[in-house]
Amino acid sequence: MTHTLITGATGLVGSELAERLRSTGPARRLFLCARPGELGRADPTGIGEIVHCAADTRFDRPREEAMAANAGGTRAVLDFAHRCPRLKRVVHVSTAFVCGRREGVIPEAPLEPGHQFVNTYQESKYEAERLVIAEMPRLPVSIVRISSIIGDSRTGEVRRINHVHQLLKLVTRAPLPVMPYRGEAPVDLVPLDWVTESLARILDGLEPGRVYHLCAGQGHSLALEALLDLLPALFAPRAVVYPRRVSLKEYDQFAAGASTALQKEVIRVLGYFLPHLGMNQVFAVDRTHPLTGTPPDPRLTLERVVRYSIAANWGRRDSCC
Ligand SMILES: NC(=O)c1ccc[n+]([C@@H]2O[C@H](COP(=O)([O-])OP(=O)(O)OC[C@H]3O[C@@H](n4cnc5c(N)ncnc54)[C@H](OP(=O)(O)O)[C@@H]3O)[C@@H](O)[C@H]2O)c1
Repeated sequence: MTHTLITGATGLVGSELAERLRSTGPARRLFLCARPGELGRADPTGIGEIVHCAADTRFDRPREEAMAANAGGTRAVLDFAHRCPRLKRVVHVSTAFVCGRREGVIPEAPLEPGHQFVNTYQESKYEAERLVIAEMPRLPVSIVRISSIIGDSRTGEVRRINHVHQLLKLVTRAPLPVMPYRGEAPVDLVPLDWVTESLARILDGLEPGRVYHLCAGQGHSLALEALLDLLPALFAPRAVVYPRRVSLKEYDQFAAGASTALQKEVIRVLGYFLPHLGMNQVFAVDRTHPLTGTPPDPRLTLERVVRYSIAANWGRRDSCC
């Protein structure tokens, strides 16, 4: 029986994964912790597998705080891993958006430094990956990057509101006169049930030293243009009001020159993710999809999530990840 330690077990992904692994029977004994700081009390002797999900997933943290939580937390997990004599694998759960503002095809591979980031969360998760990559010669560690989790593909249930829901919620309000727009660019969204099922399914087969994308990829994402075309019918009878669609460069200029306090505040909050709508980012999935299967139809998932969210009045607990 494998002894599996999951960090971030009180969070969205960690708790669902623990639930999913429990349901598969006695192959694993689970050891759950929320934050890496708790590892000082954990017994490394029997641990055969670590799935590191813990992270501060808020986009608006000061840089030092985000680095301490995400790079510092990962350092602590790697140090703990070195003390586990029976260790078979470490899975570092990361975000597809460690790519920051880098455009084009984002490979299932370590990313060269030098690109800019949209928020401190992305930057701190990138630094965490660098720590993991540096340990690859010494630890059996793989990286699994997840793109934006949207909700449950079967019911539309949203367990946790994030930037995607916040942006969707605003389409009836047009809080800014312009929005960044690349119509043909895929908007990569993944359902929580597919993410946890996939992670559980591929856990045993992950190759150390490799990067995997739990992303929809171009073939299973809606282009931004198609996504925006879908929304009016879903929000009816409320009217959807789209701002003028501009290039990322024009949006950046607008954001830099915003004059009113209200506009500055809206740009600050939306700016943690909105710029991605003006970028063409395609997440490669050639390594991962043959192992996981492809995610369900993005149109159906989006429809269910929007209908669920409207009925639930977009929940009460707002957070970002
Ligand atoms: N959800 C997504 O859309 C998404 C997308 C891409 C990647 N990911 C990645 O998936 C992993 C899990 O994300 P999630 O959505 O499950 O996050 P989450 O719901 O915010 O849960 C975060 C987990 O990390 C712990 N945590 C909170 N603040 C921390 C800190 N300062 N230092 C260390 N640990 C802290 C939390 O413990 P407490 O209960 O004590 O706060 C909780 O167990 C993360 O690595 C995230 O980067 C998530």
